[in-house]
Amino acid sequence: LFMKVALILLAIFSAALAAGNPYDLNTHEYFVNPWFENEVDASKTLSQNEKDAIRTKAAAFWVDTMDVIQKREPSLKTLLSQASERQKVATKKVTVTYIHYDLPNRDCAAKASNGEICCSGNKPDPSTGACDDASYHSGDCSKGLALYKQYTDEVVSVLKQFPNIEIVAIIEPDSLPNLATNLDSEPHCTQTTKLGYLEGVKYALKSLSAVSNINMYIDAAHGGWLGWCGTHQCGSDNECGGYKCSKGYCECTPYSNNNAQKYVAEIKQIFDEVGSSVTEKVRGFATNVANYQPLGFPEDSDPCNLKSQYNFAFNEIRYMDVLDRLFKHAGINKSWITDTGRNGNNYVRTSPHACQQWCNIKGRLGRVPTSQVSDIQSKLESATLDALAWLKTPGESDGCSPGSGVTCVRVDSMCQRDCYEGYQKCPAPEAGKWDDDMIKFLMSGWTPNGEELSLQT
Ligand code: BGC
Repeated sequence: LFMKVALILLAIFSAALAAGNPYDLNTHEYFVNPWFENEVDASKTLSQNEKDAIRTKAAAFWVDTMDVIQKREPSLKTLLSQASERQKVATKKVTVTYIHYDLPNRDCAAKASNGEICCSGNKPDPSTGACDDASYHSGDCSKGLALYKQYTDEVVSVLKQFPNIEIVAIIEPDSLPNLATNLDSEPHCTQTTKLGYLEGVKYALKSLSAVSNINMYIDAAHGGWLGWCGTHQCGSDNECGGYKCSKGYCECTPYSNNNAQKYVAEIKQIFDEVGSSVTEKVRGFATNVANYQPLGFPEDSDPCNLKSQYNFAFNEIRYMDVLDRLFKHAGINKSWITDTGRNGNNYVRTSPHACQQWCNIKGRLGRVPTSQVSDIQSKLESATLDALAWLKTPGESDGCSPGSGVTCVRVDSMCQRDCYEGYQKCPAPEAGKWDDDMIKFLMSGWTPNGEELSLQT
């Protein structure tokens, strides 16, 4: 009997803890990204107290060009070797999070983060950042993919040198979501781009899965993008094929083909193609990467008014549940993380129009990275949340906006659309560059535990 009870207890215990969570603070510590730390320390707008409050928060490390792997300092290699040194004296496992982000024809629906690799193999135009026509229309991405493989192989060879730490890789923000909703409707999201993204992501998943200590999370956009899941009318849950009937409409339905379903179908196909030896290294999905959607905690808030558009994934808690249910229907059972780097002020954007805006919102830092999420987990009906994470580096620009003292190579109209609306910061430097005024906005009114973060200000 004792054995039986012990076994049952063990089963309950491990289910509650979500075994293998690379962010579990009972067993792990988060390694601080020295790049972010240096940016914060060099700030001229933050007070010393403000710097101390965020300099050691574990924002993710973006490997957005080949140079970052070993040349630019601090490089990925430097970060990992410092983490590996720390591991020698640490009592817990040391976790490093980096973003794998260098696909050919990157950022196809926007012009902000175009990247360095084109499908044609040629360099992007230095005056616009865009690729040449052949990159979008030739039907051939082999040269760009060869460069992406070089990037991925070099990352893998560096990662393999540090088997003693825990590594988390976030896979290619925006790429698969763009294929789900923008294919053939945005000028650069073409069939040629699709080849680059699909072959590239599969190559990354396969190659990274050979790293013994890796945990991958695939980017899953956010509820304001892929949250549409079905508008089927219903009277009760049992008319919704396993989903919930909410205010007369199924939150999601097996009968329709909305954004969320398209994304899940895409992932399902990729998973079938790469096979279980690869997908077992996929720990889960990452939502809200570099976006500002509200977490939905402590209030189940809908500041963007998405419900009025029949999007029931109006905050990230709801969104993770919607996608998780769809994934489970497709036989995919994974965990979740969500980016809380910049979603600490729910009321900075309060309409669907404002919520389309993804560029340089004068928002606020959100809840700090942590696996202590039992309060949030209790609101989730389907998804298992591994952690809150800071994925987009707070204080770094989303895209360039010209103005006094700032000239731009890559200008996306969204980075200027709302300059006079109060919620968008203009001018702003190129994507990824530090904006010392932005970090001041993000920190104003911020409290690390987020007690009052959802209150209207
Ligand atoms: C940019 C990257 C940058 C990252 C983090 C992305 O939007 O394209 O270059 O490293 O944000 O700030």
